[in-house]
Amino acid sequence: MQQGQQAGPAPHEHEHGHGNAQGCGNAQGYGRERRGTPADTLDIVNPATEELITSVPATTPEEVDRAVARAAGAQAVWAALAPADRARLLRRFAALVDAHTEELAQAEVREAGHPVGNARWEAGNVRDLLEYAAGGVERLTGSQIPVAGGVNLTFAEPLGVVAVIAPWNFPMPIAAWGTAPALAAGNAVLLKPAETTPLTALRLAELGLAAGLPEGLFQVLPGEGPVTGHALVEHPRVAKVVFTGSTAIGKRIMAQCAASVKRVTLELGGKSPNIVFADADLERAAASAPGSFLDNTGQDCCARSRILIQRSVYDRFLALLEPAVLACTVGDPADEGTGIGPLISARQRERVRSYVPEDAPALIRGQAPDGPGYWYPATVLEAAPGERTAVEEIFGPVAVVIPFEDEEEAVRLANDTPYGLSGSLWTRDGARALRVARAVAAGNLSVNSHSSVRYSTPFGGYKQSGLGRELGPGALAAFTETKNVFISTEEST
Ligand code: NAI
Ligand code: MG
Repeated sequence: MQQGQQAGPAPHEHEHGHGNAQGCGNAQGYGRERRGTPADTLDIVNPATEELITSVPATTPEEVDRAVARAAGAQAVWAALAPADRARLLRRFAALVDAHTEELAQAEVREAGHPVGNARWEAGNVRDLLEYAAGGVERLTGSQIPVAGGVNLTFAEPLGVVAVIAPWNFPMPIAAWGTAPALAAGNAVLLKPAETTPLTALRLAELGLAAGLPEGLFQVLPGEGPVTGHALVEHPRVAKVVFTGSTAIGKRIMAQCAASVKRVTLELGGKSPNIVFADADLERAAASAPGSFLDNTGQDCCARSRILIQRSVYDRFLALLEPAVLACTVGDPADEGTGIGPLISARQRERVRSYVPEDAPALIRGQAPDGPGYWYPATVLEAAPGERTAVEEIFGPVAVVIPFEDEEEAVRLANDTPYGLSGSLWTRDGARALRVARAVAAGNLSVNSHSSVRYSTPFGGYKQSGLGRELGPGALAAFTETKNVFISTEEST
């Protein structure tokens, strides 16, 4: 179905639900080719009202081909600029994003349903990412390695044209995670935003151009994943694909990249644990827990959607959790006081309902508005380990609670998933904190906190949560090839 229940010219079902026991799907049966005629336009719908905001032309494979050629031309110009000039242009881009924070935030509210306060933070995050990347331009250096008989130099060279395929859950930040360091390292970027959320991305491309980036260096190509996204992944002149989205599509893209040994970074799903030990500051842990699975209406790859609670404090913790969950206000994202907005689309709500219908028994269930808008109430369920709701990524405002006896069981349950993106643990025992953080197979752990992502620290998944790392000190290097050159200093005879 077309996003947002707008009548589309063709069925838009390019992925089956997460229905297998593994929870992450597998290459077979997932992400099959799009069938039917590609849509000419994407209908962009406000998820809080179900109103059509606008329609955006979808990029055809022929247009992708032309965009790649333009990007390659611009990349040559860009890479030849003095590093200080590239850094200056990226800082100017950051300053323009900063000056347009409110406009970008309001667009994010309308097309993604994000609470306006969060949306402002997201625009600020794009600015920060651009500034951080700009700061890296002149620090991206090679090396000289001592060898016999000559000089051995390494160079960090740009890859060329990079495709960033972004999701709808954090349209601005995640687009910038790939785009900012890729540009800083001397590459061109073709950004394909998600079907439902191209508007902020299109605006960012205009701001980049206004900042003085070479024409064609950073282009936004709205379109359907299996059409526009597919064409980018298949394109021989695209050197790297940065993908954030479902594990099913990530696996498919990785397989496609194998055909030409295309570079690929994957940021995929999660089913992250929030481990509460009996010795924790339970009030603090309970105050933090709702945000850790409800923020962004649970549409967060880092959502701590499995709350593991030591049995001796299980009842006490749930008694603290309930009022904290019920205090979270679900409502109009344009209101300054709203904490939680709607889900992104009718399709996503159906997905969440397929796991937990709103009338299914629940331990805690909050309120959600009636009427237009893709609302879904905050929900906490009991689940046995291994149950579908305890294993698969729901990507809605739903958490399960599971008791554990001791540290060993906590770690075993935490790792009992094919995912490994993030997780939290709550304890006052410093040695235990580090022991458990090291034992949980996930890329991003937080102790007595549910913070996940910072532009200055590496981010990415273990196991089926992804491949490679984004952000942090290595962000630019991920968009380079290392070239080694040996120059003989032997005398000619
Ligand atoms: P998706 O993986 O289909 O979409 C992500 C991006 O990939 C979009 O830009 C989409 O157009 C593109 N895409 C889709 N098929 C493609 C293909 N064959 N070739 C190239 N690009 C393609 O995710 P979807 O269907 O919107 O959401 C389904 C589930 O995926 C969610 O319920 C959630 O569990 C998970 N998800 C996880 C995200 C994360 O942050 N890790 C983000 C979005 C979704
Ligand atoms: Mg999909």
